[in-house]
Parts: sequence; C-alpha cells; structure tokens
Amino acid sequence: MAADTNRSGSGYGGVAEPCSVILFGASGDLAKRKVIPALYDLAIHDALGPRYALVGFARTPMTDESFRATAGEAAKSISEVGPIDPKEWDGFASNLYYSPGDYNNQEAYAQLGKRLSDLEASKKLGGNRLFYLSTPPEVYPDIVEQLGRAGLARPATPDSWVRIIIEKPFGRDLATAKELNQSVLNVFEEKQVYRIDHYLGKDTVQNLLVLRFSNGIFEPLWNRNYVDHVQITAAETLGVERRGGFYESTGALRDMIQSHVLQLTSLVAVEPPASFDATAVRNEKLKVLQSIRPFNLEMVAQSVVRGQYAPGNLGDKPVPSYRQEPGVNPASKTETFVAAKLLIDNWRWAGVPFYLRTGKRLAKRTTEIMIQFRCAPHIVFRERDIEPNRLYLNIQPDEGISVTFGAKRPGTEMSIGNVTMNFSYREGFGGATRSAYATLLNDCLRGDATLFDRGDSVEAAWSLVDPILDVWSAAKTATVPQYPSGSWGPRESDLLLEHDGRHWCNP
Ligand code: BG6
Repeated sequence: MAADTNRSGSGYGGVAEPCSVILFGASGDLAKRKVIPALYDLAIHDALGPRYALVGFARTPMTDESFRATAGEAAKSISEVGPIDPKEWDGFASNLYYSPGDYNNQEAYAQLGKRLSDLEASKKLGGNRLFYLSTPPEVYPDIVEQLGRAGLARPATPDSWVRIIIEKPFGRDLATAKELNQSVLNVFEEKQVYRIDHYLGKDTVQNLLVLRFSNGIFEPLWNRNYVDHVQITAAETLGVERRGGFYESTGALRDMIQSHVLQLTSLVAVEPPASFDATAVRNEKLKVLQSIRPFNLEMVAQSVVRGQYAPGNLGDKPVPSYRQEPGVNPASKTETFVAAKLLIDNWRWAGVPFYLRTGKRLAKRTTEIMIQFRCAPHIVFRERDIEPNRLYLNIQPDEGISVTFGAKRPGTEMSIGNVTMNFSYREGFGGATRSAYATLLNDCLRGDATLFDRGDSVEAAWSLVDPILDVWSAAKTATVPQYPSGSWGPRESDLLLEHDGRHWCNP
C-alpha cells in the first residue's frame, strides 16, 4: 500500500527499474484487453522508465512486427485505459517483442532465455524479469516447470529480481490449488510469486482500508455492537459472453465468490494491521478467512443459494437464457448466481451475518458493500418506523460512499424522512480511477505484494468454498433455480434474508 500513498500527480509514484515483462498468453483476450493496455498506461505516465522490454510468448506464430500490429489494433479498440494516442503507442510498441512457442517445449524456453539476454544487453535492462501468466490455467504447471528447467526462475545477478504474476483461477478446488502452489514453490520462492486478483487493484477497494483506518469516526462503530449485518453485492448485467466453455466448468462460486467477493469480505472484516506492509496486511486478511464458520451440509442447505439465468430483458433488449449461450450444455446445472450467508466467528463479528451475492445478467451492473447499523436503542418519537442507518460503499461503476440517516421533514409535524449524504469519487477527486491492472503491475514492478494474494490465503478461500462444491456435486438430481435475466436473482435469494427478518437493499 506504500506505493499507493506515495503516488505522484502522474498517479504511479516514480519510475520502475529497467526490466523485461514476459507475457505468456500474449495473443489471448486478457493480455490484449487488460495487460498490454495497462503496461501502455504505465509507459506513457513514465512509470516504466525509458528502458524496458515487453516480450509476448504464445503458441500463435507471429513476428515482432505482427505482434505489435495485433496488440495495437486490440488496444485501440478495447483498451480499458482510455483512448490510445497513436504517437505514444508507436513509442511504446517499439519495445514490444515476440517469442513463439509451445508452453511445454523446452527449446522454446531456451530461445526465450536467449532473446531476453540479448534484449537485456542491447537495452541495458540489468536482468530484472517479470513473468506474467495470462494463459489458460491448465498450462501454468508446464510454464513454471519449464522456466525452472531453463534457469529463468532465479535472478542472474545478486541485485536483480525475478517475479511471476499468476492470474486467477488459482486452482479449481483446495486440492488443485495446493498442487499448483506446490508446483510454483518448487521453482519460485513465495516472495517472488504475485497471485493477482484484479479487484484488489481497484481504487475503491483499496479505499475500504483508507476509510476504516484513516478516519476516527467509522472504526469505533465497525463491530458487532453497532453493525446489524453486512451485504456485499457483485452484480453484472453481462452474460457469459464468449466464455461459455470456460464458465461451464467454473460457475459463479469459483469465478467470483472464491476470489473477488471473499477479498471484499476480508477487507470489510479485517483487523487493523500493525503497518501497511505486505506481510502485516496479508496476515490479518488470512485471519478473517480462517475465522469464517466452515460450511457443513446443513449450512449449505440453509445458507447458500444458487441460480441460473433464464431468458429475460435487459433494458428493452431480450436476452437468451444461460443454457442457450454458445458452448453451454442445454441441460447445464452450472450456477450463474450465488447468494450466501457467512458468519465470522471472532470477537469483532460474532453474530453479525455477512450476506454475499453475485450473478450474471442481473438488473444492474454494480459492486457494492452495504453496512447496516443497529437501530437506535429507544425511539422517543411518535413515529416508530424509522429506517436503520446504512453505509454504502460503491465500488463500481459509480464509485462513491453514501450514508443514510433520519432527518426531520420540514413542517410543523414531527415527521421523519430517510435522507442520503453522498460522496462521489468523480466529483471529489475529478477524472476517472485507474485501471486495476495498471495499479497492480505497477506495485509488482516495485516489489510491493500488499495487494496480491498469498498461497495460504488462496487455500483458505478454497477451504471455505470446497464443502459447498461437494454438496452441489453430490446433489445430482437437484434443480438449479432459474431467475429471469434482468432481475435480482432467484426468489430463494430473497428468502435467505427474509428468514432472518431482513431484505436485500438493491442498489
Ligand atoms: C473476472 C471473472 O474475474 O471478473 C468474470 O472471471 C467477471 O466472470 C469479472 O465478469 C468481473 O470483473 P469486473 O472488474 O468487471 O467487475
């Protein structure tokens, strides 16, 4: 987090050391849409410095020139970092190179090593290397093993570094996550490994810690004495788009809850760390995951709801069901929606439910955390039906914070209305927030792992999710509740809260 607080006007806080970034899966969607544009953003804001090389590695045969051209076309049409300036792009693109090869072909890694040494010598890069794995997860173990065999996993000199960023999904259950951790740690040391969860790069997610730990007024209330419950919603209007094949074997629990939503949960619930360094922050976040009450069969039945989108309307546009999407089994039982109630068994949160939900094709695209406070202990007014105070943290797309409270309506009557006080990021700070990928790449290039996941916490998150997966896969005959696209999910999701005398506060 140090990197964040130090950031200068250009937004990134100084120039990284000379380095090579080696992008595995360079011809894929993620690389083109997110990673390359993020590196471009760092370059044009002088965060990469004048000496760097970006080397794409993938199976598709390409030359340096054709890689530059396809990366340029993609960035100009789908960049996340705003419009691409053609002149700036040309300067950036002259640092792009390409090394084709199969992920398990030893010879391709020897060639990559040679290419890196040549570039390091000609551009005086000094041997710092960042490997970025944005390939399908099945090939992670091959890449890691081959990097080890080719002698590319260790720094060549005592003052250079080698790091590796690994994209989610990190495993598909606890056993495979452990296996992957083991393969990675056979070759790299934990301090070289940066497991990325792009939610942690969002400014508004980091702001959760700032809100809690830089202000005097929130933290005293942030506990079971004052908080009634917490709701975390990560809602998308998009369907599975072109990722039907991937999604079929993944589902919302693995895709969103195990990673992004549990990250948000740990940041809401975390104890104040002793300092803002990677070890202190990540130790505290791990404790939250370890304090969440593990799910057993009965709890899954009572506290976890899944759903799948049926046809419906988004705005006035009709959209198909999940089962009609390309690459999806017409009888699929893969969930596109999950709602769950978590209990955190520690001193701060005992008895305070955390309700989580995520889904595709919901009514609105929004990621929001809502903290509902307990009602005033005794109401002296005649009007008894007073809404509780709520604090809304809007992570995206309308980044901001709002708080609701009761106020006297103007007039002679003592009548109470519920009003909202708003802070908008855009109005408060002007301009758009940065790409999460640029933030995280920048941190990694500076060796700051605070916003990356550690092996133990990835495993802790899978330990929570695994029993739910087991119950669902054992319940072969159970049907998955359908919800109309454009709604807030299946009725069962509402019942989850109604059972506790509460309701979702739909944004
Ligand atoms: C990804 C998931 O990790 O996050 C996608 O695989 C999801 O299914 C995406 O759409 C959501 O990210 P964001 O930043 O758009 O909220």
